[in-house]
Amino acid sequence: SNMIKVAVVGGEGIGPEVTAQSRRILGWFATRRGVPMALREAQYGLIPYLATGKVLPEDTANAMDEADAILWGATGGPETKEVPAEARKAGGLLSLRQKYDLYANLRPIRANPALSESSPLKARILKDVDFVIIRELTSGIYFGEPRGIEKLPDGQRRGFNTEQYTTSQVRRVARSAFELARTRRGKVCSVDKANVLETSVLWREEVTALRAEEFRDVELSHMYVDNAAMQIVRDPAQFDVMVTGNIFGDILSDCAAMASGSLGMLPSASLGPVDRYGRRKALYEPVHGSAPDIAGRGIANPLGSIQSVIMMLRMTLNRPEDADLLEKAVDLALANGARTADIAEAGMRKLSTKEMGDAVLAALDRVASDV
Ligand code: NAD
Ligand code: IPM
Ligand code: MN
Repeated sequence: SNMIKVAVVGGEGIGPEVTAQSRRILGWFATRRGVPMALREAQYGLIPYLATGKVLPEDTANAMDEADAILWGATGGPETKEVPAEARKAGGLLSLRQKYDLYANLRPIRANPALSESSPLKARILKDVDFVIIRELTSGIYFGEPRGIEKLPDGQRRGFNTEQYTTSQVRRVARSAFELARTRRGKVCSVDKANVLETSVLWREEVTALRAEEFRDVELSHMYVDNAAMQIVRDPAQFDVMVTGNIFGDILSDCAAMASGSLGMLPSASLGPVDRYGRRKALYEPVHGSAPDIAGRGIANPLGSIQSVIMMLRMTLNRPEDADLLEKAVDLALANGARTADIAEAGMRKLSTKEMGDAVLAALDRVASDV
């Protein structure tokens, strides 16, 4: 059938709260625009653990295995303590990324002019900020062996992890970056720590070689990660596509989030390899986590998740016009002053998570009737 399978997994903390709003948006596209998708909602985390002994029960694993696209909420938080480490590790987010080989994690950062007062950066710094961090997601220090905590003869303990990258791991994510740059402003900045780390020396050499072999039309620059952190704050508009390893990308994307006004705004797409039918497994999720400090209060910003749906419409559902529609609706809602607490200026009414969902749905009705 031509139905595209979408698994919706809210997870823990604010995950289910923000995902519920994205679920409504998906419903709008299914009924109002006839986007052919089969939605399947599934549970993840403490609740299924208490019922089944697994954070990722069989039913959820099946839904995710069969899905073309997964919409993920968040995992983590105080509930974590109630699940033994072993049960949590099996079926954790990191093992899902590895299981589906989701190596290319796209984290777009746009500074919406309506939110310039919500960002700690000055409006002149935010002008024209529009870049994508591509974070390698299935290797690096997150997965390297050996790893562990050992006892030393002198009674101390020693914790250790292994940073690692192979030629093909670097090349495939660099390829994603060069290909994306070709559809944008044609610039890639590769971020590493090649002045210290061998993994980064190899990273830089492979990225440079791939460009020379296949992407001479793309402009390539290199930057050390410490400088990159500073440049993202000093002049984020200089970047088009930034490509970097797993842990650097994790840190730099939370930092870059502040150009958009809030970590709650940032969406992401994690893409696997293209299979022999031309399909590509994808997991869409906001960049933020379970936000235990505000979970359960219905005040989280759902726009990171909702904007992940924009990416899903574009990259899995193959509906660029619908993606544009949702993008316009989010812009309209923000232009009309819709604000959750994290992006509200002093004196502005603070919408609940659900009210922000309402505002985007109302804006969708508006922009859809304009076309
Ligand atoms: P976090 O992203 O959950 O929260 C950081 C800060 O940003 C908090 O003050 C939070 O209130 C705020 N924030 C985040 N999302 C928001 C939103 N949508 N609206 C308004 N404010 C928002 O990071 P943390 O507190 O370091 O981590 C909490 C837990 O989440 C940890 O267990 C961590 O491992 C996990 N985590 C999971 C994912 C994921 O599932 N992909 C991602 C990041 C962190
Ligand atoms: C993210 C998160 C995860 C990561 C955690 C929850 C393992 O911070 O998706 O950015 O570090 O990759
Ligand atoms: Mn992170």
